Amino acid sequence: MVDFVAVVFRSLHIVSAMVLVGAAFYLKFAGGNRPPMPYIATPAALLVATGLWQMMQAVAAGVPSRWHMFFGIKFLLALHVIAVLVISALPKTDEAKRSRLAFGAAISGAAIVVLAVAMVALRQGQ
Ligand code: HEM
Repeated sequence: MVDFVAVVFRSLHIVSAMVLVGAAFYLKFAGGNRPPMPYIATPAALLVATGLWQMMQAVAAGVPSRWHMFFGIKFLLALHVIAVLVISALPKTDEAKRSRLAFGAAISGAAIVVLAVAMVALRQGQ
């Protein structure tokens, strides 16, 4: 039986991740205008909410100790990505600073995805 709630939360998490990390790559490599704050704040809030839910499900089911280590690193990198994109959405942030900050967020975002894939593999015993 498909756990519908888990599918919805996992999908919301991945789509929100695509929006934020995609924004970082776009701001760095395509320049582009200042993103509207709701465009950053909404996926950021969804990422934290669905991420915490997934974390509680995974820990309740039991995960290897390395999963916790990866989660901690992933969470810190996520805070970096979210903070940088919120700063890039502020009116006082100029384009040069936005591009510089976005480069760091793009790298952190890519590293997060690698960590997430490793966490899923660890949890599934691969
Ligand atoms: C920019 C920020 C973030 C990105 C790009 C991101 C990306 C991802 C991706 C791609 C997955 C794998 C999805 C899958 O195959 O199931 C994932 C899983 C997960 N994420 Fe995030 N995430 C971010 C932020 C967060 C935050 C803030 C939290 C916690 C509050 C979090 C907690 C989790 C958890 C617990 C999992 C499940 C891992 C597992 O199934 O073992 N994520 N994330």
